[in-house]
Amino acid sequence: MLPHPTPGASNGARRLAIALSSTDMSNDSSVGRLAGALRERAAALQPGDQLPSSRAIVSRYGVSPVTVGRALARLGAEGTVVTEPGRGTFVASRRAPLEDVAWQTVALGDARVDTTHLRRLLEVPGPGKLVLSSGYLADDLQPTRFLATATARAARRPGAWGRVPPTGLPELRAAFAATIGVDAGDVTVVAGGQSGLSAAFRALSPPRMPVLLEAPTYMGAVSAAQAADLRPVPVPTDVDGLRPDLLAEAFARTGAGLVYTQPTFANPTGTVLAAHRRQEVLDVVRAAGAFLVEDDWARHLVIDGVAPPPLLRDDRDGHVVYLTSLTKPVAPSLRVGALVARGPAADRLAAVRRAEDLFISRLLQEVAVELFGSPAWPRHLTALRAALRERRDTLVAGIRRDLPGVTVTPVPAGGLHVWVRLPPGVDDVELADRAARRDVVVEPGRPYFVAEPPAPHLRLTYAAATPADLTEATRRLAGELP
Ligand SMILES: Cc1ncc(COP(=O)(O)O)c(C=O)c1O
Repeated sequence: MLPHPTPGASNGARRLAIALSSTDMSNDSSVGRLAGALRERAAALQPGDQLPSSRAIVSRYGVSPVTVGRALARLGAEGTVVTEPGRGTFVASRRAPLEDVAWQTVALGDARVDTTHLRRLLEVPGPGKLVLSSGYLADDLQPTRFLATATARAARRPGAWGRVPPTGLPELRAAFAATIGVDAGDVTVVAGGQSGLSAAFRALSPPRMPVLLEAPTYMGAVSAAQAADLRPVPVPTDVDGLRPDLLAEAFARTGAGLVYTQPTFANPTGTVLAAHRRQEVLDVVRAAGAFLVEDDWARHLVIDGVAPPPLLRDDRDGHVVYLTSLTKPVAPSLRVGALVARGPAADRLAAVRRAEDLFISRLLQEVAVELFGSPAWPRHLTALRAALRERRDTLVAGIRRDLPGVTVTPVPAGGLHVWVRLPPGVDDVELADRAARRDVVVEPGRPYFVAEPPAPHLRLTYAAATPADLTEATRRLAGELP
């Protein structure tokens, strides 16, 4: 039993209560801290002992019931406690560790998919960090109030919890089609960009074939290619995007039937495929009889001018398979995106999608329909553009002020990231580690290259931190550069 705090623990409990009360009571870090404190308490008890009631935890730690519920759920999920409705929460019996799992190593064979870097990118940094490493908008840039209203409205729609055709809700396919400029019949709704990429790689190439990827490229594309049993082969880019001459050579050498590219505000470089290269790239792809997967994740993240039209619009023969997602301009958990394909490729994609997860949650699709139909959507995009401009400019000014020898290559006209080249000889991975020790979270450039990187780089995200944090971050980074 744990009816009262021990004298030793009460100081800790008091300190924790102060820390928790200075934050939003149900935010992720409060939940994490409370879960940590309760985990310690559980470790000091015996299996079957009861933890204090939720009400007692609320008053002892000064947190909300929601925070307590989420912390206990977290401990339940990890097997530390068991909650019995109507009785209380008890320390779980400690499971004996597995005795010998070495046989699995033999049974599993090679680890084909390396998601080490992707996993790090997906980690949610703790409180107090200056976050310049994220693929998504900072919380304060996400239209959360609108999403709450849209979700409530969507949940009340007739059939909102029912089934939906595997290709998606017709209204949503039509809404995506209108923004992309294609026929609704060519659109398949997917669960965000990653799921779309994964489906495209599986559907468009036989296994064990090479797939051409821009160098550098989004590391999630590399993982998705590996998961589809494809072999990633890099094709260099420059300030004008993918190089058509080297693309042609790579097709000829490898016999690949698929290339993945981000023509608009590429992650990580921010480059846009130059107007004079668009037709050349399409000609090379057509001559190779190949597919081109166009990942248009940043279309709604334009800062300067207007984004060029999707390459898809210049494709007459079904070579381009197009992908976009709402996770980037809205919020990471609005996991709704669209794949566009024409001809037999569309059927292949639909078949793979059906085999993978039947269909995408209708509720989320209904929320996306609400979003596209609301005057709040264009308002959000306008406000977002101004906020991203302020943050990008603050970061670029900070780099130029605090980090001599570091080159911005080039200043991106959209997207979420700035790609910087470090002075020769600087180890980008070590630099990122040193920065992390000063609570600045940045991405080293190396994982964005499938082969040897030509120079050390960092990817600095301006969308995930406030302007004040961006300024402080470059100041701290200056102390880590030679
Ligand atoms: C270029 C690019 N494509 C696709 C994705 C996948 O995004 P999501 O699955 O969250 O839509 C990401 C995420 O970082 C990305 O950077």
